[in-house]
Amino acid sequence: MFESRFAGLRLGCRAPLLPSLLLFCWGVLVMASMSLSAGAQDDHDAGAKLSIDVTHIMSAVSPTLYGLMTEEINHSYDGGLYAEMVRNRTFRSNWEGAVPWALVRRGNAVAGRVIDKSSGPSQALAYSMKLMVESASEGNEAGFTNPGFWGIALRPRTTYAGSFYARVESADVGPLKVRIINDRTGAVQAQATVELKAGAWARYEYQLTTGAAAPSVANHLEVTVAHAGTVWLQLFSLMQPTFHHRPNGNRIDLMERLAAMHPHFLRLPGGNYLEGDTLEDWYDWKKTLGPLVDRPGHQAPWSYWSTDGLGLLEFLEWCEDLKVEPVLAVYAGYSLRGEHVAAGKDLEPYVQAALDEIEYVTGDVTTKWGAERARDGHPAPFPLHYIEIGNEDNLDRSGSYAERYPPFAEALRKHYPQYKLIATDADIQYAAKYDAKVQPDVIDDHYYKSPADMMDIVHHYDAAPRTGPKVFVGEWATRSGTPTPNFGDALGDAAWMTGLERNSDLIVMASYAPLLVNVSPGAMQWPTDLIGFDAGTTYASPSYWAQVLFAGHLGDGIPQSALSGEDKRFFYSATVSSGAGATSGKVLHLKLVNASDRAQALTIELAGISGTRKARMTALHAASYEATNSIAEPDAIRPQESWVAVPNGTWKHTVPGLTIEVLDVPLP
Ligand code: AHR
Repeated sequence: MFESRFAGLRLGCRAPLLPSLLLFCWGVLVMASMSLSAGAQDDHDAGAKLSIDVTHIMSAVSPTLYGLMTEEINHSYDGGLYAEMVRNRTFRSNWEGAVPWALVRRGNAVAGRVIDKSSGPSQALAYSMKLMVESASEGNEAGFTNPGFWGIALRPRTTYAGSFYARVESADVGPLKVRIINDRTGAVQAQATVELKAGAWARYEYQLTTGAAAPSVANHLEVTVAHAGTVWLQLFSLMQPTFHHRPNGNRIDLMERLAAMHPHFLRLPGGNYLEGDTLEDWYDWKKTLGPLVDRPGHQAPWSYWSTDGLGLLEFLEWCEDLKVEPVLAVYAGYSLRGEHVAAGKDLEPYVQAALDEIEYVTGDVTTKWGAERARDGHPAPFPLHYIEIGNEDNLDRSGSYAERYPPFAEALRKHYPQYKLIATDADIQYAAKYDAKVQPDVIDDHYYKSPADMMDIVHHYDAAPRTGPKVFVGEWATRSGTPTPNFGDALGDAAWMTGLERNSDLIVMASYAPLLVNVSPGAMQWPTDLIGFDAGTTYASPSYWAQVLFAGHLGDGIPQSALSGEDKRFFYSATVSSGAGATSGKVLHLKLVNASDRAQALTIELAGISGTRKARMTALHAASYEATNSIAEPDAIRPQESWVAVPNGTWKHTVPGLTIEVLDVPLP
């Protein structure tokens, strides 16, 4: 968490961009003409005055303005987006055992279990869960249960794909029965029987198909045998159906929520997740590739283990499924608890890892890492335009980024001059000793603020320098609600987004963070996250809807406009879709944000519009700042659509208190 780099002294020392200057001058002229006109008293009575001239486009809107930021936090992937339903599928254990796996002994069965560190199916998973059954029979089975990630969600007439690795000395211990059982009724919801083969470790597959029973979450997995003997198990998996049927893919309902946000990019893999807590825990992407059995997983900074089932290739396929581009962050040798790699020899392997990573993402199949990607099942390279070097390196109190950034920038510029580089500490830009070839193209700025504080900085970028790097607001959120934002946060977000849009000649991209939270008890680490979910369902926060409204009506140009006489907590953004390539024609997108509880009367003067036009209005409203959505009440606040007649010339419009409105006015 940190403040913008465009603060204090730096603001004064650079010239504002021409469009901002013109906008300002035009605003002054409009205000002057208003005070001279005979209607000045009327204007006052009418509240604020908003003038928009859609025939004068001052600057372009960044086409990539809104995107997604992601990382493993709040069980976003394991127990969230990643379609795995079994928790701790690799039997990692601590002093409490391989939690949440539990030994089950039905009836008179006699059995025990132990983690066997001497036998596993691969080097990455060189250990296993050993089940030792002294006696068991039909009705007296022995094995394990697993509760999933706060339940196992089942839908009627659905097939779930399972797999596991097992070793048995004698097949007589089997077959292995896999069942999903309802916690409350004990009813078997689906089951499969798998014959085991004696000998070496082998991979087995099974399928579970549900019947007509209603959707349910309070279910658990049970794995049992009915004979005496020993079974070693590893990587016990059950996947739910995935978005676009992607093998090893993502949960459908969450992907649909993300797709509906109209994103243009996915910043990956983090956040602090890129850095890890210590140097040992950095996001070592090479260990996240290939067959699942060859992925060891790693300790994530948000206090739990990541299986890396959602690894680098899956991140890229996630982009592909959403039709967005990755903004790829490469590890730059700084980790969350403050350790850093010394520049020089020690840093070289990390620079090479970054080069290899870019080759894995973009190289053709004749390159070493492009060929590796093809072997992993994706011969086609992925599109890429932006590479971010590190994450929040401004928090490195040692100041070592000034030495760590240049070797990355030099190597990346040399091998990949076509890509834009993003730095994560603005000071790099002012380090005069570096020559132009390592200057970043973009600086990543982060903001986490209360509603009041967010509204106070809405104009922060209006006078920011336009002569240096562009800005990526790679993490931002108005934070007060938990686990997801309340309506006051949504108003702060909407107000903030008016500033992002107005300054999108400078701000090329922006992404809210964090994106996802599993709201089950104990699953969250970071309060205030955009989308809430549990094992069975998802819900959209008011802030989510605010983003959908803004990103869904982005436009491509900023028309000349000016506002005067408004209340302190009233904000607006005006953009125009030129209609180029679109079926909807030319449209003015007018976003009005009234964060006060008093109505805001407006006189809107639209220059460049003839006749009365029918505008579609989408509004988001709540009765208080505290109002919100939740798993229990997912739709308490959601956008409502209506139609508004917009006359030629002057138009009176009132925005109710605590309301966000987006008007689409068709243009000639
Ligand atoms: O979004 C949560 C965390 O906030 C990110 O991991 C980190 O980059 C920031 O400090």
